[in-house]
Amino acid sequence: MLQQELIPAPPVLRAEYLERGDQLWISGRVDEALRAYEEGLEHSADVQLLHKRIAELLQATRGLEGAFRYYGLERVDDRDLTIGPHEILCGATVRDEADLLPYFLQYHQGLGIDRFLVVDNLSQDGTRELLLKDPRVHLWQTGMRYWPANAGTAWIEVLFRAFAREHWCLVVDPDELFYYPDVETRSLRQLCDELDHAGKVAMPAVLLDMYADRPIREAVYHSGQDPTDVTPFFDREFFHWRGTAGPWKNFEGFAGGVRRRAFGEDSFPFLSKIPLFRYTVDRVIAGGVHSTNAAPEEIASERGAVLHFKFMARFIERLEDELNDRRFDAGDSSESYSTYEQALMSDPELCLYDPDHSIRLRDSRQLVDLGIMSDADAASERVGEHSPLPTIDEYVAHMHELVLGWFDDVDAAVFRAIDEVQRATGVVGDFLEIGAYLGKSAILLGYLLRPQERLVVCDLFTNEGLDPDLDADAAFYGQLSRVAFEENYARFHSRPARVIQRSSTELADEGLGRSFRIAHVDGSHRFDVVRQDIATALELVVDGGIVVVDDYRTIPHALGVAAAVWEAVTAGKLIPVLATAQKLYGCSPDHAETTATMLRRWASEDAPFSGLQQQVADYEMVVFAPPLQSPTLANHAPEPPRGEPEEDANRLRERLALIEGSRTWRFRNRLRRLLHRD
Ligand SMILES: C[S@@+](CC[C@H](N)C(=O)[O-])C[C@H]1O[C@@H](n2cnc3c(N)ncnc32)[C@H](O)[C@@H]1O
Repeated sequence: MLQQELIPAPPVLRAEYLERGDQLWISGRVDEALRAYEEGLEHSADVQLLHKRIAELLQATRGLEGAFRYYGLERVDDRDLTIGPHEILCGATVRDEADLLPYFLQYHQGLGIDRFLVVDNLSQDGTRELLLKDPRVHLWQTGMRYWPANAGTAWIEVLFRAFAREHWCLVVDPDELFYYPDVETRSLRQLCDELDHAGKVAMPAVLLDMYADRPIREAVYHSGQDPTDVTPFFDREFFHWRGTAGPWKNFEGFAGGVRRRAFGEDSFPFLSKIPLFRYTVDRVIAGGVHSTNAAPEEIASERGAVLHFKFMARFIERLEDELNDRRFDAGDSSESYSTYEQALMSDPELCLYDPDHSIRLRDSRQLVDLGIMSDADAASERVGEHSPLPTIDEYVAHMHELVLGWFDDVDAAVFRAIDEVQRATGVVGDFLEIGAYLGKSAILLGYLLRPQERLVVCDLFTNEGLDPDLDADAAFYGQLSRVAFEENYARFHSRPARVIQRSSTELADEGLGRSFRIAHVDGSHRFDVVRQDIATALELVVDGGIVVVDDYRTIPHALGVAAAVWEAVTAGKLIPVLATAQKLYGCSPDHAETTATMLRRWASEDAPFSGLQQQVADYEMVVFAPPLQSPTLANHAPEPPRGEPEEDANRLRERLALIEGSRTWRFRNRLRRLLHRD
């Protein structure tokens, strides 16, 4: 019985209404399709998929505004809603929660939530005014009924569809606090980075009911208080049933717990949630976030908890309203509010505390020790037994100590910026690297992969066959081997890269297809090879993809690269976008300019390096270089270069080389004077 109540049959068995709606939609009968989905909502348990289809259909036919209108969602605040690509978002629906919200917002902001997307459902207690005061809250209101909207998640789906694509999102109610192993010292950002790194898209949690050691009606909560001060206890044996759960049977779920202990068999709540997930348009959000449609291997083995503060005095005060709501809309059958009512009527002093079962919350490690939460499983999460794999930030901070090779900090930052821009613009694709050496840049690329994407590297991994007269760098690669690359890569990623061990000139035979969002050309330095590599890269990148060419200005051995790069640029085949001392970043002229434009904007406005905007062969570029102190140079007598350290002179020479040929050439002579090179 439990199985039937809590774990509905797989969607495919209940797909009748969905299928009919889909057929109608395909044949262009949009209004009838919508009606079929709506009928499904009346008769089928497949509500999460039906709501998702409704949102999809409305977006496709009436635009996102159509979906907002359908669900009666009206924007209340007027704050700027430009969301940075790495922001972590929290979705919540509220009704009369003015008491709980101040701590709820403060706690989750403390974890690392950047913005809250909140739907207010007819609050009358000042909730709205309170939310409007918080600069991180964006607020919508709807007068529609909560339960038919799949316990509010249909509204969240519309908001996420509009604002949260590719973002990590937390969905929690105002009487819940998200908790996870080492929450005291580990930010939500770190957690999400680790999940990304492990190829996970969702993290489950146990819903842990908290209570006081006094009667429920005496557990009075005052606004702003930490609710664990009022209700610090939970049941050590936190479940009565565990098993594979969810319509997709993709994670281990729990049911029962203190409610079952205190209220008997009529109360058998499902205690699992998937509150944290990376939202994509194909992500299904079940009612109460009790499950989602990720593949089992994409669901983290690490398990958190959602501390649930239901059993406080406010619960009794609101019981009547809640009963009415549920009676009207037939809510969750596994949770009987009339059972709560009866129990409280027969014992108004009802107290959930029992010394045989109850335990006071101490910290997150305690919940791990009790098996309520769990650390990531080493085997499935790519985390070593004693030392977890470095995060991307750790890698970037220490890569020069960790891996031999040629990859600068500034380029690591640009690679990450490209990834962010592409995520923000919905560009999906693999990464190609020609010339991996020991993996220094490939490892960084590995961190940026999404689960469905792959890294392909092409390298000879030997200097045999290279001609020392033509390949001046051949001597460097004497000790290089494919195994050395693979071992290095495995120190940071458990999913190996696809390795093509042959010359990049033969890549066409691999049938790779146009599927790459970054193609990094960092192999040979010979003109004939590089011009072919650039052509191959341009062939393989998707719309919104970026081609990166290394060593485009390096002397003495890489002038062949320079010749090939500028040939491609001046022939209009490669549009230059950005350049660093080491690499030139460009895109195909056949593709939309969006990624390139956003990247230029990032480079000139947000990057932590000073960029020089200039026009090169009629293209707008940003070049990262130390800032040119033009007023100082113009208005003051230059510092006598006597005794100037050689590095400074080199730095200035580099700067000089950088601005050669650009429209800032007028600074050249000043620099020349400074360097006494005339
Ligand atoms: C400068 S290193 C790459 C640096 C590397 N990306 C890093 O982050 O350290 C150049 C690499 O290109 C490889 N290479 C040279 N000629 C090649 C060719 N024709 N095809 C494929 N790889 C080649 C070399 O074996 C070497 O590993």
